[in-house]
Amino acid sequence: MESTKKLGGTFTFPGTSMTVNRMGYGAMQLAGPHVFGPPKDRNAAVAVLREAVESGANHIDTSDFYGPHVTNQIIHEALHPYPKDLTIVTKIGALRGEDGSWNPAASPQQLTQAVESNLRNLGLDSLDVVNFRSMLGHPKKEEGSLEPQMTALAELQRRGLVKHIGLSHVSRTQVADARKICDIVCVQNLYNVAHREDDALVDELAADGIAYVPFFPLGGFSPLQSSILDETAAELGTKPMAVALAWLLERSPNLLLIPGTSSVVHLRENLAAASLELPAEMLETLNGIGQAAVR
Ligand SMILES: NC(=O)c1ccc[n+]([C@@H]2O[C@H](COP(=O)([O-])OP(=O)(O)OC[C@H]3O[C@@H](n4cnc5c(N)ncnc54)[C@H](OP(=O)(O)O)[C@@H]3O)[C@@H](O)[C@H]2O)c1
Repeated sequence: MESTKKLGGTFTFPGTSMTVNRMGYGAMQLAGPHVFGPPKDRNAAVAVLREAVESGANHIDTSDFYGPHVTNQIIHEALHPYPKDLTIVTKIGALRGEDGSWNPAASPQQLTQAVESNLRNLGLDSLDVVNFRSMLGHPKKEEGSLEPQMTALAELQRRGLVKHIGLSHVSRTQVADARKICDIVCVQNLYNVAHREDDALVDELAADGIAYVPFFPLGGFSPLQSSILDETAAELGTKPMAVALAWLLERSPNLLLIPGTSSVVHLRENLAAASLELPAEMLETLNGIGQAAVR
């Protein structure tokens, strides 16, 4: 009970019996530089994953296009056979070029192959959650129909290869349209204390009990820098990144966190963020970071 509370409380994905602690772990940083090739130190990557799970993080985000294949293979090495309560969320919709580029791969055939590849590398018969990651307008986010992709995913779900479906890098319209085709349990978009473009979507999904999973919760490849984060952290005797994560946990109960790190020290700081209490006036000051960024 104590450790569950420390990890930000729990969330149950809608229409499922899948319950996770709100503080999870994002595995993208475990591949090599630019998420391409193997990491410098594979044993260190295995150690990060094992410590994350031993500490109670039971929601891991990954994809077979990290590496490619590398991150899933490290997850398999570190954690298989998987604990019963572990939820692994993966994503499909892109393939890596030989130069490390990120290319759309969203035909029904490519989506089927991507699901099969994730199953193979993770050593599973069925994937807990698969997000369709839209590459429309890549690297920007673009409107457009995702009907063929959602129909293909619904078919993979019918075949039992995919248990639950989510979306990534999508608009409110795309989420609403997808929900007419299949049940959506989570949406994964860019969001953090400085990037608040999805505020309305967060609230809409919360009203329907759907998880919103921010990617780049710490700012991504260039972690957030803000004097407000620094000052708040100093006041609380913690780290700026922990404050950024604690703010997200406070933002809405449907927010599930998957901060990424290749370092055990950072992992500990991030997990500890779930025990931080942010008084109302601090929350208001932190809200100012996003407001300043929007102006
Ligand atoms: N759906 C999508 O399109 C999409 C896109 C991007 C990411 N994702 C998912 O979202 C997860 C989170 O995003 P992310 O990993 O890219 O970015 P992030 O969590 O915002 O930040 C990761 C960066 O912050 C550093 N970091 C982590 N903890 C830290 C700490 N306590 N103090 C200082 N620096 C710290 C990491 O470096 P160290 O390794 O040195 O700690 C890394 O450079 C990914 O792992 C991935 O699973 C999804």
